[in-house]
Amino acid sequence: MHYRRVIHEAFGSPGQVCRVEEAVLPAIADGEVRVRMVCAPVNPADLNLVEGTYGRRPSLPCVPGGEGAGRVVESRCDQVPEGALVLVPGGCGAWSEYVQVAGERVWVVPSGIAAEQACMLRVNPATAWRMLHDFVPLERGEWVIQNAANSGVGRAVAQIGAHCGWRVVNVVRRPELLDAPDLPGVVLLDDDALVERVREVTGGARLRLALNAVGGESALRLAKVLGEGGTLVTYGAMGRQPVRIPNGMLIFGDLRLRGFWVTRWYEAAEREEAGAMLGGLFELAKRGVLQTPVERAYPLELLSEALERAREGGRSGKVLLALGPDAG
Ligand SMILES: NC(=O)c1ccc[n+]([C@@H]2O[C@H](COP(=O)([O-])OP(=O)(O)OC[C@H]3O[C@@H](n4cnc5c(N)ncnc54)[C@H](OP(=O)(O)O)[C@@H]3O)[C@@H](O)[C@H]2O)c1
Repeated sequence: MHYRRVIHEAFGSPGQVCRVEEAVLPAIADGEVRVRMVCAPVNPADLNLVEGTYGRRPSLPCVPGGEGAGRVVESRCDQVPEGALVLVPGGCGAWSEYVQVAGERVWVVPSGIAAEQACMLRVNPATAWRMLHDFVPLERGEWVIQNAANSGVGRAVAQIGAHCGWRVVNVVRRPELLDAPDLPGVVLLDDDALVERVREVTGGARLRLALNAVGGESALRLAKVLGEGGTLVTYGAMGRQPVRIPNGMLIFGDLRLRGFWVTRWYEAAEREEAGAMLGGLFELAKRGVLQTPVERAYPLELLSEALERAREGGRSGKVLLALGPDAG
């Protein structure tokens, strides 16, 4: 049987080096499942991987797509029933109409979660969850600050933060987002007045955790907001500028600079640990606590358009690839 998948054979601008190709489905082996993909997001990491600027370079040619959701249409794994909606594991090439993978590596999604939302749960909300739990033991009512707050990760930080009883200062770069009703917490603009405004809204509280997905001046502003001994976790570099910190903030302010990469976390985690976290995220998604807006789901015929749009700022939500007949 023939199917379509995205392939890239060279590193470069995603809209130019990615194309759709036809391939023949091989038979599945013992222990494997055949997944008819429904949808997959185009995340910044996917774009960076294709550009060749990511933390790891895949050997080419390869099928991109770090996460996605689909239905099991054939199973030779006892633990995964046919018909189940599953999340496919990282590195298996989710931008494809079919994925064949060991059943023990997929995650079965409980009923009540639409594939469109499920396909975005394994990376961004997991990143938010880990960063809120693994660096600073936050107390109920404590303030946390983050930039790029309207991003997929940022929204998950705000939603999980509110759910766990933490107060989140959401920093955005676009004034029109200041009144975003769907971003729990306080929303402030990423400009020179930020440090003062944070003092006002928090009543001068000592902040211990800041999450940075931008770098450059934005990261420095977050660092200035932190109290003595505060931790700045960098997990993204949307502004493509390095984090530059004055020496004094490290020496006298005991500022702690950390990084986080969810890929490494999954690689180090036991299957049970990852499953427990995802189970919690599934529950939050089911209850509508976790929700990521989607700007548009593009069919594979519009691949270049989808990839170009995903690279642009100012989107109203994520760009998805609609890979299956029942995609949104
Ligand atoms: N380390 C990890 O494990 C990990 C895991 C997941 C994601 N990430 C990283 O987290 C970041 C966000 O990913 P996502 O999927 O949540 O993003 P997303 O939903 O695609 O949203 C992109 C965000 O980046 C902002 N942005 C775009 N260009 C920018 C610039 N030049 N300067 C400042 N902000 C800019 C956008 O703001 P506007 O809406 O104003 O354009 C938007 O808030 C990415 O860097 C991604 O690689 C890291």
